[in-house]
Amino acid sequence: MTTLPSESILIFDFGSQYAQLIARRVREAQVFCQIVRHDLPASRVAELQPKGLIFSGGPNSVYEPGAPRCDPGLFDLDIPILGLCYGLQLICHLQGGRVQPGSAREFGRKTLRIHDPDVILRGVPSESVVWMSHGDQAEILPPDFEVLASTDTCPAAAIRHRSRPWFGLQFHPEVSHTEHGRTILRNFVYDVCGCQGLWRMESFIESTVAEIREKVGPHRVICGLSGGVDSSVTAALLLKAVGPQVACIFVDNGLLRKNETEAVRRTFQDHFHADLHVVDAQERFLSALAGVSDPQEKRRRIGHVFIEVFKSEAEHIAGAKFLAQGTLYPDVIESGGAPDGPAHNIKTHHNVGGLPEELGFELIEPLKNLFKDEVRRLGQELGLPDQIVWRHPFPGPGLAVRCLGPVTRERLDILRQADAIFLEELKKCNWYRRTAQAFAVLLPVQSVGVMGDGRTYENVVALRAVQTEDFMTADWAPLPHDFLAQVSTRIINEVRGVNRVVYDISSKPPATIEWE
Ligand code: XMP
Repeated sequence: MTTLPSESILIFDFGSQYAQLIARRVREAQVFCQIVRHDLPASRVAELQPKGLIFSGGPNSVYEPGAPRCDPGLFDLDIPILGLCYGLQLICHLQGGRVQPGSAREFGRKTLRIHDPDVILRGVPSESVVWMSHGDQAEILPPDFEVLASTDTCPAAAIRHRSRPWFGLQFHPEVSHTEHGRTILRNFVYDVCGCQGLWRMESFIESTVAEIREKVGPHRVICGLSGGVDSSVTAALLLKAVGPQVACIFVDNGLLRKNETEAVRRTFQDHFHADLHVVDAQERFLSALAGVSDPQEKRRRIGHVFIEVFKSEAEHIAGAKFLAQGTLYPDVIESGGAPDGPAHNIKTHHNVGGLPEELGFELIEPLKNLFKDEVRRLGQELGLPDQIVWRHPFPGPGLAVRCLGPVTRERLDILRQADAIFLEELKKCNWYRRTAQAFAVLLPVQSVGVMGDGRTYENVVALRAVQTEDFMTADWAPLPHDFLAQVSTRIINEVRGVNRVVYDISSKPPATIEWE
């Protein structure tokens, strides 16, 4: 992070599970924000010139040894500060108040009563529901602080400094259970910090295009396309910035969904007139997978072949200095990769399509400050078809991890046909957009059936459809029975080799979304 847009908020992460949610809420108010490490020095903050600072919650107690602290110099900068939960307690502690550890555990919905409808609580009714989750709370306020609102067990549920723009909330305004949380965050961002809501997709496109042009200069850029939203939007943005200098590589690994290669060709070659290199590597992937049933071994081999294939294609592109990747903001945060970000490590998966550094390219990651829904909006602005913009995520190892047991061309064909029917029906019945991910899985068992007068002994297809915001937890989608009946009939009638269809009704956790 070298500079920030003219109007930005910094979110200091003290280890909160909600830091990203705070960021989402601020962005929803059309103000740019960035999550930063809790100990970002005040001198750096002064250079970045944010309009306001938000201190997140966190699992610690302020008196614990090693509890995360901010640079106390932040209070000399004259930038508004809002502390949430641990953030409030930290402000209280650093400004000379006292925090009472573990006295009144409060968890869940509570009634907030406002005594003083100060600027930050403007528009919030005198009684409303808020979401609490804390053990410690402010016991004695620092000098010149006053209470604005309380709950039955938390006398200082909302506080402020009498003259400086410092506020604290013991509850979580970012969580949807807090009825007027969005209003409160908006009040802070607009009325306390003076933001106007300048964060727009068009201005993002304009400034990013300018940055890409400056960085790339006269060189060429390679952009790996997977057919998914993130890489497609990255490519579209690069094509807008430095079109003729971009070479897109799409590896057909034989593990793709039906008509995927054609769709990529149609969009990027026919519509965007990109220099598209489609590499037909089906044979190489299938022979590397021959006889392999173990899911992790499948992933390992696919990752390995992918790097080899991509590398040898990239070597044919003369003058290429940069590699563009569709890394998103949650990926950056989850991998602890942000220079100013916290070091969480939540995700256990990594993209099989990830490329090693020794390829020697400089990286361009134009989406690294965006959330998925912002990427979709960006894709729409850039003219990508709905089919790509709203596409469900697809794992790097593709159908190999949905074809349980050994992967063969015949089994992949069966799976591909069944999957296409399922997706087609979902789209027809307007369920595609109501599910976050849906697909067919070919099971490694055969089942007995009867067709006409004969006994059959054929494959079983499982259908999986989930609803989720973040893919870390997921519920199975309550697809209507007549819809499932229609999909099942079509698959059994139209796909040779399948005589049974089942629907997966497991949530994540304890199941995962994919079967392997
Ligand atoms: P699970 O199955 O763990 O999946 O609930 C969560 C999300 O991650 C995707 N996934 C992968 N993506 N390479 C990827 O690029 C992988 O090896 C991989 N495995 C799972 C999965 O499709 C879901 O969206």
